[in-house]
Amino acid sequence: MKNGVQIPRIGMGTWQIQDRETMKNLLSRAFEIGYRLIDTAAAYSNEMAVGRAVAEAGIPRDKLFLSDKAWNTYRGYDRVKEACKRSMKKLKTDHLDLYLIHWPASPRLHEDWADINADTWRGMEALYKEGVVRAIGVCNFKARHLEELKKTASTMPMVNQIECHPGMLQKDIVEYCRKEQILIEVSSPLGNGQILGNETLKSIAGEKGRSAAQVCLRWTLQKGMVAIPKTSDTKRLLENYSMFDFELSDKEMEQIDGIPYCGGIGIDSDEVIEFG
Ligand SMILES: NC(=O)c1ccc[n+]([C@@H]2O[C@H](COP(=O)([O-])OP(=O)(O)OC[C@H]3O[C@@H](n4cnc5c(N)ncnc54)[C@H](OP(=O)(O)O)[C@@H]3O)[C@@H](O)[C@H]2O)c1
Repeated sequence: MKNGVQIPRIGMGTWQIQDRETMKNLLSRAFEIGYRLIDTAAAYSNEMAVGRAVAEAGIPRDKLFLSDKAWNTYRGYDRVKEACKRSMKKLKTDHLDLYLIHWPASPRLHEDWADINADTWRGMEALYKEGVVRAIGVCNFKARHLEELKKTASTMPMVNQIECHPGMLQKDIVEYCRKEQILIEVSSPLGNGQILGNETLKSIAGEKGRSAAQVCLRWTLQKGMVAIPKTSDTKRLLENYSMFDFELSDKEMEQIDGIPYCGGIGIDSDEVIEFG
């Protein structure tokens, strides 16, 4: 990241994994394989399960990269600081490696969305200055959200976690982040599992003797982005991590870039509706 903090190039997404025993088995296997980045969020209702699984795995804290997110009901300077402290307590940690704003305030619900984001960001900057978090960032921010933030921010986000995968290139925001040295961390790198039947991906995967999921993740890696695929299957954990020993040619990268939209989550952050 631009502040010099190192982030693993692949991590484990944990959305929709809540069961404590499942989390323990997955994290234990993930650590054996080599995963060190764990992506969670207050909204996933699994921070305690992650915290317990991490403690039981016995990996030294400085060998782990824990990333968490502040939910939409915890916006503003004081609230975001409170959210961070609550999350750390659940994770049983005294610091986070990366803390993110989960969604920008949406113009659909807030006339003063820009002020709300600026105030939340001030809280994030305070957490960073206090050394409670090693890096701060945002999720699902478009260029206009970041441009607004720039007017008041003293430190711009180090990371923007956005949905980006074959069929959903997000060219505008990716280009903006590159220019601003904001690292892209890809959520739903497998398009939430919906894009893996795409014929181009399957054909390239077949030629390489790999799976479509590995081709997607390798594409992300070669784009210089961090990927956080989620699986609740311990065998797929290894499959998803095994993409450092092959390469996609320029032609294959171009073919994948040309895939039309074929699935994903696809939420527009200007339209997101807030809930509990
Ligand atoms: N910041 C945000 O707003 C945001 C939004 C969405 C996601 N995220 C983060 O990004 C992570 C990943 O996103 P995601 O969970 O939406 O989707 P994803 O990682 O793109 O895809 C997950 C889906 O693909 C399947 N899958 C995983 N590996 C596979 C493989 N090798 N072969 C075939 N299928 C495979 C999984 O099924 P099984 O579990 O059955 O393997 C699951 O259904 C989340 O867990 C979360 O941490 C963040």
